[in-house]
Amino acid sequence: MATAEHTQVAVIGAGPAGLMLSHLLHLRGVETVVFESRSQEEVENTVRAGVLEQGTMKLMRDTGIGGRMDREADVDEGIEFSLDGVRTRIALTDLTGYNMAVYPQHEVLIDLIAQRQADNGAVLFNTRVDDVSGYDGDMVTVNYTDENGASATLTADYVVAADGSNSPYRAAVTALDNGARYKFEYPYAWFGILVNAPQTQKELIYATHEDGFALISTRSATVQRYYLQCDPEDTVDQWSDERIWEALHTRVDSEDLTVSEGEIFDKAVLRFRSAVTDPMQRGRLFLAGDAAHTVPPTGAKGLNLAIADVCALVPGLVHALQGDDARLQAYTQVAVPRVWRAQHFSYWMSSMLHVAPDASPFELHRRRGELSAVLSSEAGRRYLAEQYVGRELPDYMA
Ligand code: DHB
Repeated sequence: MATAEHTQVAVIGAGPAGLMLSHLLHLRGVETVVFESRSQEEVENTVRAGVLEQGTMKLMRDTGIGGRMDREADVDEGIEFSLDGVRTRIALTDLTGYNMAVYPQHEVLIDLIAQRQADNGAVLFNTRVDDVSGYDGDMVTVNYTDENGASATLTADYVVAADGSNSPYRAAVTALDNGARYKFEYPYAWFGILVNAPQTQKELIYATHEDGFALISTRSATVQRYYLQCDPEDTVDQWSDERIWEALHTRVDSEDLTVSEGEIFDKAVLRFRSAVTDPMQRGRLFLAGDAAHTVPPTGAKGLNLAIADVCALVPGLVHALQGDDARLQAYTQVAVPRVWRAQHFSYWMSSMLHVAPDASPFELHRRRGELSAVLSSEAGRRYLAEQYVGRELPDYMA
C-alpha cells in the first residue's frame, strides 16, 4: 500500500469514528489516509461496548458492511429493567418499531477494516502522528513516524481527530475564544467481566438493588458480558471470582432467573465520565467521537454517537472539497445537540440505576420512585425505548 504524499482528508485514529468516516468518504469519492498508533491485531481485539442502535445497523447494511452483523449479531426486540429482582420489560420494537443488536464494537471494526482494505483504502497501523499543523491556513501538514520508525510527512485538505478521549488535538479547539469543555465525574464505576457461560437470558437486564447496579449482557451463546457497579478506585484484584458471583446473584437473581456462572477470563474497571467539547472544529481540524465527547457506558451510546458525528461530517467535507464550505462550517451546530441528548440519556440512565455512595435516604427513595414511575407508565417506557434505540442518523449522502 503506497502512501500518498497528499490526501484529501487525513484521519487520526482507526476506531469506529475514524474507520466509518474513511469508509463513507470513500463511498462519496473522497480519498483519506487513516493513521493508527496501535497494531491491527490490537484494534481488532480490544473489547469495548456492544450495543448498536437501529440507525447504526441500517448504516452498516446500506453501505455494504452489514453481512456478518446480520448473520451473527444477537438482535433483540426488548430489554429488561430489574428493581430488587422484579423485572419489567421494555418492548423496544412494539413501542418504537425498531430493535437493537448486541454486536461488539471490535466486530464492527473488523468489518470496517476488511472493507477499507478491500477498497484499497490507506489504513496505516503502527503509525504514530507526531505533529499536525496548518489547520488555520490553506493546507494541513501531518508529520508522522511510520511502522519502520521512519519520519514522513503528509499534506491534506482537512484533518479529523478521531483518536479517542485522550486526543491531544482537542486542546487546539478548546483554546479558541469560544472553546468550551463541559465535564462531569460520577462517584461510581463498572467492574466488567467476560465469562465462558451459557446466556442468562436472551434480552439484556439492567438491574438495580440497594447494593448497586448490575448489567447482564452477552457476546455469544457461550460468552457472556456482565457488569457490576463498583467504586472508581477499585482495582481488579479486589474482586475475587467469589465476590463477583455473590454480588451478581444478590443484585440480579429472582425466583425465575439465576445469573449463569462460568470461567471468568477478563476483568476490568471502567471509569464513568461525561464530557462535551464545543465547538468540535477549528479551521481545517475537526473532532469526531470520543475525541470530542465522552458518555458513561450505561445505555451504550458512545459508539453510536461517534457514528452519528461522522455522518454529520461527511456531507460537509464532500461539499467543501467541491468549493462550498457552508455545511462544513455548520458541523458543530448539527452534531452538538445530538451529543447533549445522548449525554442526558446516559446521565439519566446512570443516575437512575446506580446507588451513589453519598446519597441521602431521601435521594435513595426518590430514585426508586423515579424508576417505578418510568417503568409503570407506557409513556415512560416509550420515552426510554425511543432514546435507547436512537434517532435516525444524519444523511451521509446529503
Ligand atoms: C453493553 C454495554 C453497555 O454500556 C450497555 O448499556 C449494554 C450492553 C455491552 O457491553 O454488552
